[in-house]
Amino acid sequence: MQKLKDKVAVVTGGGSGIGLGIAKAFAAEGAQVIITGRNRVTLDKAVVEIGFNTVGLQGDVSNLADLSEIYSTVAKKFGRLDVLVANAGVYVIGPLTSFTEEMFDKVSDINFKGTFFTVQKALPVLNDGASIILVSSTVNGKGIPNHAAYAATKAATRSLARSFSAELIDRRIRVNALTPGPVHTPLFNTVTSSAEEAEAMAENMGNFTPVKRLGTPEEIASAALYLASDESSFMLGSEILLDGGLRDL
Ligand SMILES: NC(=O)c1ccc[n+]([C@@H]2O[C@H](COP(=O)([O-])OP(=O)(O)OC[C@H]3O[C@@H](n4cnc5c(N)ncnc54)[C@H](OP(=O)(O)O)[C@@H]3O)[C@@H](O)[C@H]2O)c1
Repeated sequence: MQKLKDKVAVVTGGGSGIGLGIAKAFAAEGAQVIITGRNRVTLDKAVVEIGFNTVGLQGDVSNLADLSEIYSTVAKKFGRLDVLVANAGVYVIGPLTSFTEEMFDKVSDINFKGTFFTVQKALPVLNDGASIILVSSTVNGKGIPNHAAYAATKAATRSLARSFSAELIDRRIRVNALTPGPVHTPLFNTVTSSAEEAEAMAENMGNFTPVKRLGTPEEIASAALYLASDESSFMLGSEILLDGGLRDL
């Protein structure tokens, strides 16, 4: 029996990394998956890789008109939405002393504002009883140099899972945070200047983690599948932490 049979699921940022892993897992479990992202080429490649009639819709989560357009297409094509994964995010890091307003606005607009309005704009098409998953980060509860703004956006994301759940409880919509530690994805390429540097950064992060390795998108996707399905029906406003022991050991 497929866990998400006949469910319609949107995964923002589903063209790469964790989002792609989640999209693949959902599609394999019977969901009609719609992935979103800014880059058309990345989306088209991912749609082929995922298979199962997956649809790729272009849009920027920090742009409210793009979000409305995406949900209007979902409503027209599929009539409803059962699972929403607000996964799209950027990693913008740097020392407090030199962190610019531009860096702050970018990370805040995409990770915080983007997550907020990804949910708000979905409300008209979301089914009662839907599951919403907000992708946070283990740094939402840690103080790490260079991570102040990024960590704050992820703490905001964790907070939104509580507040949104309280507000949407009459519609039986559950909102939970999915909180990874370091995971092997193209994210590291966005803060380094070469593939070698990105690999070195990933390796350092792995060594810094108590289990001495990075997580995989598949490991995060299996928890997303639990949150998306009725197996997690008693869980709302809460968080699943998958971080190789980084927060607590
Ligand atoms: N990798 C880790 O170690 C780690 C750890 C904890 C949490 N996370 C979180 O996990 C999420 C996924 O990250 P990842 O590691 O899988 O990185 P990734 O491979 O770089 O994926 C990020 C995805 O988000 C999309 N995206 C970025 N900005 C967007 C925007 N403004 N509008 C729409 N889509 C946008 C990107 O597509 P386009 O560029 O085409 O738009 C891409 O598909 C992020 O929220 C990240 O903060 C990652």
